[in-house]
Amino acid sequence: MSKKIKGIILAGGTATRLFPLTATTSKQLLPVYDKQMIFYPLNILIKAGIKEILIIVAPDHSGQFLNLLGSIFEKYNIHLEFKVQKVPKGLADAFIVGENFIDNDNVAMVLGDNIFEDSTRLAQDIKSFKKGGMIFAKEVSDPERFGIVEFDKNGKAISIEEKPEKPKSRYCVTGIYVYDSDVVKIAKRLSPSGRGEIEVTDINKKYLKMKKLAVNKIKGAWLDAGTFDSLLEAGAVVKEKKIYKDFDPIINKAIKEFNEELKALAKKRLI
Ligand code: TTP
Repeated sequence: MSKKIKGIILAGGTATRLFPLTATTSKQLLPVYDKQMIFYPLNILIKAGIKEILIIVAPDHSGQFLNLLGSIFEKYNIHLEFKVQKVPKGLADAFIVGENFIDNDNVAMVLGDNIFEDSTRLAQDIKSFKKGGMIFAKEVSDPERFGIVEFDKNGKAISIEEKPEKPKSRYCVTGIYVYDSDVVKIAKRLSPSGRGEIEVTDINKKYLKMKKLAVNKIKGAWLDAGTFDSLLEAGAVVKEKKIYKDFDPIINKAIKEFNEELKALAKKRLI
């Protein structure tokens, strides 16, 4: 029998590129069309049938995340946990902060500011995960800005390079990472990179070296909503491609119930 898979959403960070919007709230709580950004990564994990999800947040924002998500999934048997990442040490830190939560299970980590069009296909892939590592690559026009995967003629991943001057392909690594529980000890052994962070790229390189990394090519829009322009574009793409309609029924119901609760409370305050 394959192991249980848990979910992590990495929703901390400093979001300096969105200052001063993020002086008053978390990037992942900013709106993308009709929902807070965090619902987009949550949708993928919930569509994948994951029932235990850890949300990693920055110290200033834990109360805001609790206000929004603290109890809305309770009756759907989806258990959310929250953990504070005191200092943004890098994407690979998700697996150190999440060590006790992961325990001996598999884990799918999604970046809190990533929005994917084809959430259903991604969820299916996550569901099918057995062991090793699995990441998702998307063809882009500006590969110099990303972690780039090189494939051999059979379509097998053979190298990953961070922001290469001469990219070996146009396929970049996107913000969903699925690993077995070995990821915790791999993350703990990493040294910080030149920019002082522990890099998820180094985790992927390690799995690749062990010949345990699957790289799935994805289609459909992929955006990270980390700048003013990409945040605006994300909202526009969500509307245009009707991504806002493609949410798991649990999320739709939970948001609806939460809205009704808020409205009832607002009414009470008026009386
Ligand atoms: P980034 O966009 O790389 O970093 P950031 O959100 O702090 O933004 P900026 O570069 O503008 O300062 O992070 C990608 C996602 O990962 C985002 O959702 C924040 C999250 N993150 C953490 O939660 N902890 C971390 O240590 C880092 C580096 C990122």
